Amino acid sequence: MNPFLLYNYLDPDYFCNRHEETEILLKNIDNNSNTAVFSQRRIGKTALIKHVFFLLKKKQSTIYLDIFPTLSLKEFSNTLATAIYREFPIHKSAGKKFMDFIKLLRPTIKINALSGEPELMLDISQPDQIEKSIPQLFSFLDQQQKKVVIAIDEFQQILSYPEKNVEAFLRTIIKNLHNISFIFLGSDSKLMIEIFNSAKRPFYGSTNFMVLNKIPKEEYISYIMNSFVAAGVDMDVKVPEVILNLTCTHTYYTQRLCHEIFADRFLFITEKDVVNTLYKLIQQNEAIYFQYRNLLTKAQWNTLKAIAAEKTVYQPYSQNFIKKYDLGSTSTLKRNFEALVDKALIYQNLAVEEPYYEVEDKFLMHWLQSD
Ligand SMILES: Nc1ncnc2c1ncn2[C@@H]1O[C@H](COP(=O)(O)OP(=O)(O)OP(=O)(O)O)[C@@H](O)[C@H]1O
Ligand SMILES: [Mg+2]
Repeated sequence: MNPFLLYNYLDPDYFCNRHEETEILLKNIDNNSNTAVFSQRRIGKTALIKHVFFLLKKKQSTIYLDIFPTLSLKEFSNTLATAIYREFPIHKSAGKKFMDFIKLLRPTIKINALSGEPELMLDISQPDQIEKSIPQLFSFLDQQQKKVVIAIDEFQQILSYPEKNVEAFLRTIIKNLHNISFIFLGSDSKLMIEIFNSAKRPFYGSTNFMVLNKIPKEEYISYIMNSFVAAGVDMDVKVPEVILNLTCTHTYYTQRLCHEIFADRFLFITEKDVVNTLYKLIQQNEAIYFQYRNLLTKAQWNTLKAIAAEKTVYQPYSQNFIKKYDLGSTSTLKRNFEALVDKALIYQNLAVEEPYYEVEDKFLMHWLQSD
């Protein structure tokens, strides 16, 4: 089996480091306090929660829901009901109690046509039924003997629900629960900060914060080395570092590159093999990169290329940067940066002392550098 996972979480053998973050989350859960976790995309938020849940599994009930696909509170209710149902399936006694507890919401079980997984649908046709259903679902969990931990992934999605006062509605329910600790995750740091750190908003002051950074390089180096060696693959001693330099230590791109190198079945990996594999990955994605180019204006494209060439841009509006790449006036450049952030092609890392911009997709970054 390929030890470098591209999706999801399996067990601690396939998970690198995050000791500190794991400890903090376990401590918060133990103390019944809530945590808001945010980071840039694909750095490992979801895997971290799955890891913590793996460690907690015997002691507590763990409920995970990803609300990214939901468009309303009604869909939120169904997703929450389904997540609870998965933890308390009907063939277990707590599962029967759950179905009994929510019978007034007339739950029906459907099989998702794509995933083949069962889903619970509640009968919510009137708005006031939503107001009852969500508190009722939480209330069931609050009455369990074991403590419950709920992780709500892509929590910033609630901001796009059409119902009014969603934040206040959820915050009020959550405030009155005693047996549940919450972890809110989000990959849109700006929106997550708005929800949790604006003094005038309902969730303000209600959580601990955790900003998930990149995995420390030294730790990742030994993880990569050990994972290959355990599978009988040897390498030049510099190889892990070469990999991490190429991926800027970004978790997903590192996993992706390692996965591909492993899939190529080398018995001994050289630095050249790493570069060749990266080149192959870039070639596979080239059609998509050309599409990006078609979707951007020429000025936006040039800005993107300039950021890629610099790798990290600390002072985007400095005369130095503007002149070096001929990027026009400051006001146009500001608009271009905004457009690129908006399209998720670049990202501003705010979680460091000196914030900087970088190209999100590290493979695209290399392609732009070589173009
Ligand atoms: N500590 C880790 N060790 C090894 N692989 C990891 C680790 N954390 C994450 N991964 C892998 O990195 C990839 C991205 O992780 P994950 O999906 O958890 O990120 P995310 O921050 O939740 O992303 P998104 O913003 O898309 O929700 C996945 O392939 C996952 O398996
Ligand atoms: Mg995620």
